[in-house]
Amino acid sequence: MTAVQNAGPTADDLAYIRFRAPDLEKMRVFLEDFGFKVMPGETEDGVPALFSRGKGGAPVIHIVEQGDPTFLGIGFKMASMESLKALSEYDGASEICEILAPGGGYRVRFEDPNGYAIDGVYGYIERAQAPPFVRQPMNTMAARLRRNSPIRLPRDKPVPVNRIGHCVLNVRSFRGSEAWFKERFGLLTSEEFYVDDKSQVVGGFLRCNRGDIPTDHHTVALVQSQQTGINHVAFEVDDWDSVMLGHDYLGSKGYKSYWGVGKHILGSQIFDYWEDPYGNVHEHFTDGDVFDESHVPTLESVDNLLGVQWGPLPPDKDL
Ligand SMILES: [Fe+2]
Repeated sequence: MTAVQNAGPTADDLAYIRFRAPDLEKMRVFLEDFGFKVMPGETEDGVPALFSRGKGGAPVIHIVEQGDPTFLGIGFKMASMESLKALSEYDGASEICEILAPGGGYRVRFEDPNGYAIDGVYGYIERAQAPPFVRQPMNTMAARLRRNSPIRLPRDKPVPVNRIGHCVLNVRSFRGSEAWFKERFGLLTSEEFYVDDKSQVVGGFLRCNRGDIPTDHHTVALVQSQQTGINHVAFEVDDWDSVMLGHDYLGSKGYKSYWGVGKHILGSQIFDYWEDPYGNVHEHFTDGDVFDESHVPTLESVDNLLGVQWGPLPPDKDL
């Protein structure tokens, strides 16, 4: 395995996202319908909260604290305790503190240039994972691999999410935030995108650097915008059937579809976006690209960001 060359701290993945919402019961119902296992609890300050996980090993991937509705921040899973300690040396870092939430571990917290709380965490206890779901092969014109084995899918119940995949943040300055995140978390650029002219770069997809271990096409995407906030957060489901089953199920429950089902150009994911009761966009995705450190960044038109390989075009809203 190639050693990661970053001189500074390095993140391996996204760990969790944090929101605040006034009605935790309303959020609990949405989160369970979306496919989370929800655990009621309270924050370190004694505020009622929901801690949610997926089928994967991470003990918590989604946190909602009771209060006025807002996006609070995200946490990165650091590559090592040394990385967490290196992170704590940066200006503005909190002391390393113990996490008093399911899984435990240690945390460093920053306020980033947009006012988001950005955490680095390490040392939480992973859960034993269920065996990976193995999809039966598809019968195609090239090969009839599934024989004497009809498919019967479980309808009318939530589709479990596995893990948190990525989030997209609206930021005041793309270059400013790009430097801030890369310095602290060792992120690499997968693609940048421009509007009108190649000199007008307005955002980019950033991924973790795990050397020759492939990682998601993006862990964080940054989009320069007049209005800061969360654009969306994404959770990986098992496969295409899961995306479609989740789409039908969430629709049957009356939730508001934001965009999908479709297939992105940049990242190649099959995606399906839904709004939670407070308008925060949560995505189910599957079949995304994975890159190792050898991938060379490209510069893409924003048309490729917003376009699809199939499926509907995005709603007419600012990025
Ligand atoms: Fe996404």
